[in-house]
Amino acid sequence: MKKHIAVIGYGGQGAWHCRQIEKSDVVTLAGTYDIKEARMEAAKADGVRTYPSSKAIFEDPAVDAVVIATPNDDHKRLVVDALAAGKHVICEKPVEMSVAALDEMIDAARKSGKIFTVHQNRRWDVDFLGVKKIIEDGDIGEPLRVESRIHGSRGIPSDWRCQKKHGGGMILDWGVHLIDQMLQLFGQKIVRVYCTVTHITNDEVDDGFRLELFFEDGKTVYIEVGTYNFIAMPRFYMQCKKGSAIIADWTQKAKVAKMTAWHERDVLPVQTAAGITKTMAPRDEITLKEYEVDRPVSDVHDFYRNFCAAVDGREPQLITHAEVRRVMQVMEAAFASAESGQTVTVSI
Ligand SMILES: NC(=O)c1ccc[n+]([C@@H]2O[C@H](COP(=O)([O-])OP(=O)(O)OC[C@H]3O[C@@H](n4cnc5c(N)ncnc54)[C@H](O)[C@@H]3O)[C@@H](O)[C@H]2O)c1
Repeated sequence: MKKHIAVIGYGGQGAWHCRQIEKSDVVTLAGTYDIKEARMEAAKADGVRTYPSSKAIFEDPAVDAVVIATPNDDHKRLVVDALAAGKHVICEKPVEMSVAALDEMIDAARKSGKIFTVHQNRRWDVDFLGVKKIIEDGDIGEPLRVESRIHGSRGIPSDWRCQKKHGGGMILDWGVHLIDQMLQLFGQKIVRVYCTVTHITNDEVDDGFRLELFFEDGKTVYIEVGTYNFIAMPRFYMQCKKGSAIIADWTQKAKVAKMTAWHERDVLPVQTAAGITKTMAPRDEITLKEYEVDRPVSDVHDFYRNFCAAVDGREPQLITHAEVRRVMQVMEAAFASAESGQTVTVSI
């Protein structure tokens, strides 16, 4: 039988959940509640049942689970209350703004015995799954460095996302997705974190950041979010032991260049601005094979399918407490590094 889910917060993301839940094969929509009357009216106009309060949702025995889709500073209270009322909980990202706050939520989940997970839906993004596929296929060997970038040119949204007290800023908004993706690829220990932030359009919170993660085995990950970039750099760049790969943007296939032999004969120098170079000359087709990788297939509904299977005890939950805690630890270290201007030594 389908699980009945109610959604708290009928803004952009809450409404998105409602539309997905209505199309789902495993969950059905019980209704929604939003503190803003205008959003309650919008829900009614969309044909979504409304509850008079979040308490009314928690007290409804027909509701199995709750999605929390409010601004970031009102996640913990609602998650803890929902768990205490015996509901399973899906919380929007970022789950909270500190490891300490997340630990209170994890503790509440343990006490309730209910499923508590976080909607890290960008694990299903096909561009990211392309990177994962290249690593798993192993054709260009182990990664030495992965660079993950998103560039926009409209600054930070002017709603609660530009206010510190609501948990605004790009590290919490987009960083949480991009860090989560990279930590899905690499379980090795992170030993150092260095981060700088930008304040081009907003003084209060970061409107972009550049984050370096240094792993114990020497591998590095670079994550960059910009909101003042009028030409976007590629979404992903991978440097691996036997080649390189690039994914230009969300819609493109990965392009791979595999080194088939290290030594080259008769390298022809190329002309650069003020001289010639052999070092930077492109390789010939004898030592380099170039090809494209098909985009993997992905279905965001697998998130709800796994959630229901976890509630029924048929599968472990995909997005675990340990994983969201590790991402939160990285974000805390990023803030500490940006604040001090120093590289932070960690063991994450
Ligand atoms: N996973 C994703 O891809 C994704 C995408 C967008 C947003 N989000 C997350 O979803 C959450 C909401 O973001 P959004 O873009 O929908 O913001 P939004 O401003 O569009 O909507 C938030 C809504 O919550 C309501 N609200 C605030 N406090 C409330 C409360 N105590 N009870 C009930 N309603 C309350 C507001 O009135 C508003 O309508 C954030 O945590 C955000 O980071 C996730």
